[in-house]
Amino acid sequence: LRFLCYANDGIDQHMIWLIGLKNIFARQLPNMPKEYIVRLVMDRSHKSMMVIRHNNVVGGITYRPYTSQKFGEIAFCAITGDEQVKGYGTRLMNHLKQHARDVDGLTHFLTYADNNAVGYFIKQGFTKEITFEKERWHGYIKDYDGGILMEYKIDPKLPYTD
Ligand code: ACO
Repeated sequence: LRFLCYANDGIDQHMIWLIGLKNIFARQLPNMPKEYIVRLVMDRSHKSMMVIRHNNVVGGITYRPYTSQKFGEIAFCAITGDEQVKGYGTRLMNHLKQHARDVDGLTHFLTYADNNAVGYFIKQGFTKEITFEKERWHGYIKDYDGGILMEYKIDPKLPYTD
């Protein structure tokens, strides 16, 4: 099992995995327009942390790091249907937290969580209370009524993965 993070960098294998992830999002997030999913997953300013098993994508999280503001916006998060509730979602989020802190230099995540995914985000330590100063994110992420804004403050030292 591998946890790998890539943007659309033109490397064939990365593109194949990103297309696989886009297909998982399209199926698991039926309320999201498919063109919007493709646009963000393939956008060069977004990155995707992916779970890869036997060279196949099992799931992933697509996010946009705003390095000047030191926060990341999680756009999409999903695990393929027959592999949910086996712990992949938690391990994926831990790898993302570690990568965002150590590679991107981020201190916070923000996301608009679907109503039915709020429980998952709470288990990952996200809160509905936003303490991250609005000046640091206002104008960077858009208001969106299709979900609940949640935040995660990345621990500066905690080892998130082994
Ligand atoms: N609501 C409440 N709790 C949940 C949910 C949920 N929808 N999904 C998982 N959990 C719980 C599990 O029961 C588990 O609890 P436990 O630690 O007490 O056993 C914990 O969260 C972690 O479970 P994992 O097995 O690690 O989660 P999984 O691998 O299933 O991944 C995910 C979670 C990504 C939400 C997955 O179920 C999924 O793809 N769902 C459909 C798509 C979706 O809703 N994505 C999020 C949309 S919001 C967004 O993308 C910004």
